[in-house]
Amino acid sequence: MHYEAMAIYNVAVVVGSIRESSLNRKIARAMCAATPDSLACRIVEIGDLPLYDPDLDENPPAPWTRFRDEIASSQGVLFVTPEYNRSIPGPLKNALDVGSRPYGQSLWAKKPAAVATASPGVVGGFGANHHLRQCAVFLDMPMMQQPEAYFGGVSDDKFAADGTISDQGLRNVVGSFGQAFAGWVDLIHKGRNLLACDPSGSDGERPAVPLAT
Ligand SMILES: Cc1cc2nc3c(=O)[nH]c(=O)nc-3n(C[C@H](O)[C@H](O)[C@H](O)COP(=O)(O)O)c2cc1C
Repeated sequence: MHYEAMAIYNVAVVVGSIRESSLNRKIARAMCAATPDSLACRIVEIGDLPLYDPDLDENPPAPWTRFRDEIASSQGVLFVTPEYNRSIPGPLKNALDVGSRPYGQSLWAKKPAAVATASPGVVGGFGANHHLRQCAVFLDMPMMQQPEAYFGGVSDDKFAADGTISDQGLRNVVGSFGQAFAGWVDLIHKGRNLLACDPSGSDGERPAVPLAT
């Protein structure tokens, strides 16, 4: 009988809030704790990244290099972010930009990803969620479509003193989302491997369509 070794994927968890007691950071931690052993999640910090400036690419600041190395060594990306003014927070957009350059060396392409947004407001960060999805289209990240996660009405009283989620309902949906993401990462990587083994499958070439820039 043939047993296939279980694949373990490194997942970069990017939290869009740089606030110390961020609700989104707590949710990200809970989500990571709920994922199966097939994912090795770690939060990749973005708060120290200098604003992206192409002039610095020849001699990049150390935090850019640290961040780029961490994204490069991941096989999936989980975004958990608040909404700022119906879009993604500036530090998160900056992190996307830093990881996408120098031109032609984007680190995001082909990495399976998912986004969850959380807010004290009832809309649950819907605007930020979909603005991030728009960026992911251009960055060529296969983004999990379902389940969607717009966690609304999130407040400190849904968490215990140690930062874990005390609210049963929130804990359940956060856990389900983490489980679904693990399946998505596995599906994308296994599907790609299958296509690589199948001579009739895709070799990664793109169809000849005009590219928007
Ligand atoms: C600059 C700014 C803009 C905000 N805009 C929105 C918004 O558009 N929609 C929303 O639901 N909450 C908005 N909020 C409230 C945040 O959802 C709330 O502060 C949340 O706790 C931030 O997430 P965090 O706890 O992970 O830091 C905004 C907060 C700030 C500081």
